[in-house]
Formats: sequence, structure tokens, C-alpha cells
Amino acid sequence: MFGLKRKNKEMILDNIPNHIGIIMDGNGRWAKKRLQPRIMGHKAGMDALQKVTIDASKLGVKVLTVYAFSTENWSRPEDEVAFIMKLPVEFFDKYVPELDKNNVRIQMIGDRHRLPKDTLAALDNALEKTRHNSGLVLNFALNYGGRAEIVETVRELAQDVLDARLNPGDITEDLISGRLMTSRLPYLYRDPDLVIRTSGELRTSNFLPWQIAYSEFYFTDRLWPDFDGQALKEAISDYNHRHRRFGGL
Ligand code: FPP
Repeated sequence: MFGLKRKNKEMILDNIPNHIGIIMDGNGRWAKKRLQPRIMGHKAGMDALQKVTIDASKLGVKVLTVYAFSTENWSRPEDEVAFIMKLPVEFFDKYVPELDKNNVRIQMIGDRHRLPKDTLAALDNALEKTRHNSGLVLNFALNYGGRAEIVETVRELAQDVLDARLNPGDITEDLISGRLMTSRLPYLYRDPDLVIRTSGELRTSNFLPWQIAYSEFYFTDRLWPDFDGQALKEAISDYNHRHRRFGGL
């Protein structure tokens, strides 16, 4: 999307964003262009995710949060949903060993309740197997919805006030950040510095609405399965050309 402008810009990778969020969009269109069923796009998307994760880890990124399935995605055709839910199972068998070797730790955010049992089991295996790794955190947003996350947090805070464990006056931004699902991430890296969305859509689609308040955004026309290490560097370079002021001067 910003490709033409970017081509004339020098590649700068001095400042690597600690936390990158990715809305991996365009799998279906990638498959359609090749006259393949949509699920082949998700498979190719998983390959891209594996490569990008390792490249990001080599660049020094600390957290990669990827939007793998939103609470709205349940409205897709049943067989597509079933296929996406099987991806973590395949991911664990085929991909996690290499990630583990690269010191990657897997985590997840999202509502576990509606996930099929074997999807959860595969995910929990990956979480457990990589629990002691100290490298990049690959954080899956799976059955995740940002507003639902905030609603849940507000309910918990209201209950704490009712039970006289909390004074409304003590509710701060930091307290709320500490109650969201991203509070399981390393403290300094809870909020994305950079959010990338592929496939040319210019929306945030309920992805981490609280956490992206000060994030930089990078939109590209590239479809997710075509996104690679070079595309990641281009996004990071674009980020390096910006000045982050957090509302100040
Ligand atoms: C959006 O493309 C993509 C998804 C809803 C699924 C993304 C999942 C992966 C890339 C694999 C993740 C891996 C694991 C282990 C869960 P789309 O289907 O909306 O594409 P379209 O907009 O072109 O139709």
C-alpha cells in the first residue's frame, strides 16, 4: 500500500519494535487467486507464520501477537472453522519443534471456552513445551475479541469494588492493563509498538483495542501467505522512519 513511497526510502532497522501485532489477512484471496479452496490459503498462512516468527526472533523482536481467529470468525462456514481449529494441532506436530529450537515461547490470549478439546490440548502442549524458553514470545490471539476482553475486565473490577477489595478511585490505566489477557506477557512489552495488517484492508477489527492506543500502523497490500522476512523488514524500516511522541512533542 505504501510500497511506492517506501521503495525510495533507505532501509533502517536500528530500532526494532519490541512487540509487533499482526492481523494476518488475505489467506482466502491468496487461495482463490490460485483456484484452490480457501483452506489451502490458511495452510500457506501457517507456513508464512512459521518463517516470519523465526525471522522476527532473529531480528530481536520480543513479542509477536498474531490474530489467528477472532470471536467473529465463528460465523464462517462450518467446514472452514473446523479446518482452522485443526491448525494448532498440525502446528504443534510440525512446527513447534523448530520454534522450540529457536528458543520461541508460545502463549495465547482469547476465550478458551468455545475451542474444541483437541485444539486446546494441542495449544496447551505447545505452551507447556516452550514454557521455559526465553526468546521471542509467539502470542496467538485465538477466539479473541478485544471488546469482550474489556467487558470481562470491567466485570471483574466491578466485582472487586462490590466485595470491597477495590476503591473506584484506585482504578488506573496500569491497573486495567494488569487485568487484561496481555498482562501475561512480559511487563514492558504488553502493548504492540507496531501493528501490521496484510491484504489491503484498513481496519483494526477488534484486535487489542486497549493495547494499540499508541501503536504505529503499517498496512500492506500483500496477502498474508506472501508475507515474509523481507516484508517484515520493510514494515520495521517504515516504523523507523516515524517519530513516536506518545502525544508529547
Ligand atoms: C484471515 O484470512 C485469516 C484467518 C481468519 C486465519 C488465519 C490463520 C492462520 C494464518 C494460521 C494460524 C495458525 C494457527 C496455528 C492457528 P481470510 O480468510 O479472512 O482471507 P480473505 O480475507 O482473503 O478471505
